[in-house]
Amino acid sequence: MLVQGARVLVAGGSSGVGLGTAKACARQGCKHVVLVARGSERLDKARAQVAALGVRCDVLATDLTQAGAIEALEEFTDKIMGGVDLLVCNVANGEFRDFNATSDDDLQAAWTCTALVAYRLAKTFVPPMRERGRGHVAIVNSPVRATPYFAVGYKVSRTALFGVAEALRSNLEGSGVGLTYAEPPRISDSGYFDTNAGVLDQLPPMFRSPRFAFLWQTSDEAGRMVARAIANNRYWATTFLVGLLVLLAPFLPMPLLRFMLGDPVRKIATPASAGGSS
Ligand SMILES: NC(=O)c1ccc[n+]([C@@H]2O[C@H](COP(=O)([O-])OP(=O)(O)OC[C@H]3O[C@@H](n4cnc5c(N)ncnc54)[C@H](OP(=O)(O)O)[C@@H]3O)[C@@H](O)[C@H]2O)c1
Repeated sequence: MLVQGARVLVAGGSSGVGLGTAKACARQGCKHVVLVARGSERLDKARAQVAALGVRCDVLATDLTQAGAIEALEEFTDKIMGGVDLLVCNVANGEFRDFNATSDDDLQAAWTCTALVAYRLAKTFVPPMRERGRGHVAIVNSPVRATPYFAVGYKVSRTALFGVAEALRSNLEGSGVGLTYAEPPRISDSGYFDTNAGVLDQLPPMFRSPRFAFLWQTSDEAGRMVARAIANNRYWATTFLVGLLVLLAPFLPMPLLRFMLGDPVRKIATPASAGGSS
């Protein structure tokens, strides 16, 4: 899609890939950006960064998992910029816990915050795009969804998010509304590790150890990657090596994957010390 002149809504836009994408869209000359997240402090800092690029930016502090929040967001975007041409879904959280330390509520919360929110955002903002016969949706996910990994809430939520993207891809065919699905590598300056305590220590070595930093991206680099895919109407947005891992993972034997991803399961606290079992 032509990002120049577009009205952009970034759900989960106060940090990480969401903010990076908002800034990349501003650099491509979009008309107006709305950023949504829960925390006002980070939102205000993010607004200043986008505005510094010469694009009008407004923010809404709300928890998108709460009833009525997406309806209120629709009202806000209608009022403040008259609609949405590009929807970016980057809303996510969730700690990394093994089966023994994951309660039903943990799993439900991770799923709600990612897949259910993306599904509801698409249901709300795609129909007007479809009516106009133009627009674009971008969904940001994690490549960890495609690899064997201990964190069951994280895996289930990201696999479900992939399902939302794939279903939407088929649903949007021929509508004039484009779709981009992004799986970035580790984001070196993401807000995720501040919001979700302890997650950084439980990442596989290739996402945690500075030895592998040559594989990582900054939020700005990931945002540019996503914005390039949007501008080129491309579905898949990832790096070459992450894409290769994702494609090959189902065919690779576990010992090789353990060698590549490490074995974070050994580092996990026991259910009693984690205090989150059900
Ligand atoms: N970080 C990495 O290294 C990395 C690598 C590859 C893929 N990914 C995946 O990419 C996605 C985005 O990651 P990121 O690094 O951009 O994370 P991030 O910096 O934490 O961004 C997530 C955004 O969502 C917002 N958010 C969280 N819960 C919300 C809620 N209930 N309602 C409204 N907003 C909410 C956060 O702000 P508030 O907390 O203030 O609400 C923040 O703006 C995730 O699925 C992640 O797993 C991350």
